[in-house]
Amino acid sequence: MKKYSKKVILALDTTDTQKINFLFKELSGIIEIIKIGYQSFIHFGPDIVQKAIGAGFKVFLDLKLHDIPNTIEKAIESCIKHRIHMVTLHVSGGREMIEKAISAKQQFKSDIKLLGVTVLTSFDDIGFKELNYRLPLKEMVKFFAVKAKMWGMDGIICSPMEIKDLRQEIGKNLLIITPGIRFDKGQDDQKRTLSPNEAFEAGADYIVVGRPILKSDNPKNFFENI
Ligand code: C5P
Repeated sequence: MKKYSKKVILALDTTDTQKINFLFKELSGIIEIIKIGYQSFIHFGPDIVQKAIGAGFKVFLDLKLHDIPNTIEKAIESCIKHRIHMVTLHVSGGREMIEKAISAKQQFKSDIKLLGVTVLTSFDDIGFKELNYRLPLKEMVKFFAVKAKMWGMDGIICSPMEIKDLRQEIGKNLLIITPGIRFDKGQDDQKRTLSPNEAFEAGADYIVVGRPILKSDNPKNFFENI
């Protein structure tokens, strides 16, 4: 359990301070990385990052950046100054945007991990078709993953169901991080899900888990079944 618990990233999708204090206390020593996304970052601002770091966690800032290259370069500089460990960027932002992010990283000799978002795990084929991309969802995920590698990113975010195929395409060195983790299927908006054990077996380096831990009265329970 311990070996794999460090590979679970908690998605801190809450603005409840009491709950956050409770989770930090309960999960200290069990997990290493806390993912801070829109909900908690917009509510608390950078204080929540400092709070997590102060509690001994590394921070994965999941703001799924997508903007003009110069803005992204400056955003990555700020991430580095705030001691962010991992940050997400949409691969669809394009080569120039990703290259600027990498140049900020190199300039500050930082080891921040730049992670490429492929296609959000909440999409299924029907929803994705409405966007009118030339390739179907699965092919598009592969396309973005290959570009992330080609452009020098450190890892990708994808659905657990895509891991096996993608490993073959991108090799061993790129980190694969996957949300969409559920012990039971069909509970909410996540459509392309696997269980934690299935995701690790398929080759995930880390899994991101939010609601299955956040909604539980005993957050440690989740780790008993891994
Ligand atoms: O609650 P749940 O386990 O679904 O949380 C998954 C987390 O992963 C959320 O914070 C969500 O924003 C994030 N995420 C995702 N799909 C992606 C990238 C990130 O669900 N492609």
